[in-house]
Amino acid sequence: MRLLVLGAGGQLGCDILARAEGHGVVAEGVGHAQCDIALVSQVRELFDTGSYDAVINAAAYTKVDLAEADEELADRVNRVGAGVVADQCRANGLPLLHVSTDYVFDGNATEPYSHLAEVSPQSVYGNTKAEGERLVLEMHPDAAVVRTSWLFGEHGPNFVKTMVRLAFERETLRVVNDQVGCPTWTGGLADALLTMVTKTVSEDVKARGIYHYCGAPQSSWFEFARYIIDEARQYDEPKVRELLPIPTEEYPTPATRPMYSVLDCSRLEKEFGVVPGDWRYGVRQVLKAEFSRLGGRP
Ligand SMILES: NC(=O)c1ccc[n+]([C@@H]2O[C@H](COP(=O)([O-])OP(=O)(O)OC[C@H]3O[C@@H](n4cnc5c(N)ncnc54)[C@H](OP(=O)(O)O)[C@@H]3O)[C@@H](O)[C@H]2O)c1
Repeated sequence: MRLLVLGAGGQLGCDILARAEGHGVVAEGVGHAQCDIALVSQVRELFDTGSYDAVINAAAYTKVDLAEADEELADRVNRVGAGVVADQCRANGLPLLHVSTDYVFDGNATEPYSHLAEVSPQSVYGNTKAEGERLVLEMHPDAAVVRTSWLFGEHGPNFVKTMVRLAFERETLRVVNDQVGCPTWTGGLADALLTMVTKTVSEDVKARGIYHYCGAPQSSWFEFARYIIDEARQYDEPKVRELLPIPTEEYPTPATRPMYSVLDCSRLEKEFGVVPGDWRYGVRQVLKAEFSRLGGRP
């Protein structure tokens, strides 16, 4: 099975490529420099010159706060680009898994969001991703949208790496404790996507419509940070002495985040037998790789 991975230079794209072989998949990664997904001519050329059985689109504009000031660029990638890829996949008869986000929800729920729940994004990023999802399913009714949340992995900047760095730089850290969601390790998500795509191509089960995949258990950013710093202690003694929980209003950001964005992943489990991975395992994997890359302290 030959798989095209768009967004191959991103943190999720890198892990899909690294784990493909273990699923018996020959994956070809294409990054931004090789193909701009918003340009029909470039995407068409990619499909004309390559020979694929399926596509995963992990390319996106993911700078949540910067998107507030650059709606045009976020829209170009997350809506227009998503639609171009979906249209070309449909035209070539290829299954597509399109990756999306928990930020399509408003965060007012009190129980996990079903894949059927109404979207109501509160930020430019969330809005462009929601529009992208809608366009993908309109352009390619057989495509699947996989929403995920709070991603972290070995590649690329993320919360785990930031917390480790800050823990060795500062004596006091303040972390938001009233936003609740599910940290998700990109390795676990990559395995889930590869399982979905192989089963879809072999026509075992077809991924179609909206799915959710996130890590377990649910957590606040503060609890997530505390776990990361505690685990980092086995490598070296951090400088941080005080880790303080703060409310969202004490850490204002340009983009509004959902206060609660736990995703109900039961559809994925029912149809594909994929259960949410424990994010704490992922944190340990990322720390091991990070400290070994840096040869000790960050
Ligand atoms: N990060 C999170 O916490 C999170 C949470 C929930 C959902 N998601 C979703 O998960 C997916 C993967 O996220 P990620 O964290 O792996 O993102 P990432 O590390 O930012 O990777 C995204 C990749 O897309 C590329 N890209 C941007 N514009 C492009 C364009 N016009 N054409 C082709 N490629 C383009 C970027 O390349 P350049 O850097 O060169 O522009 C980058 O390599 C995205 O759909 C994202 O919305 C992420």
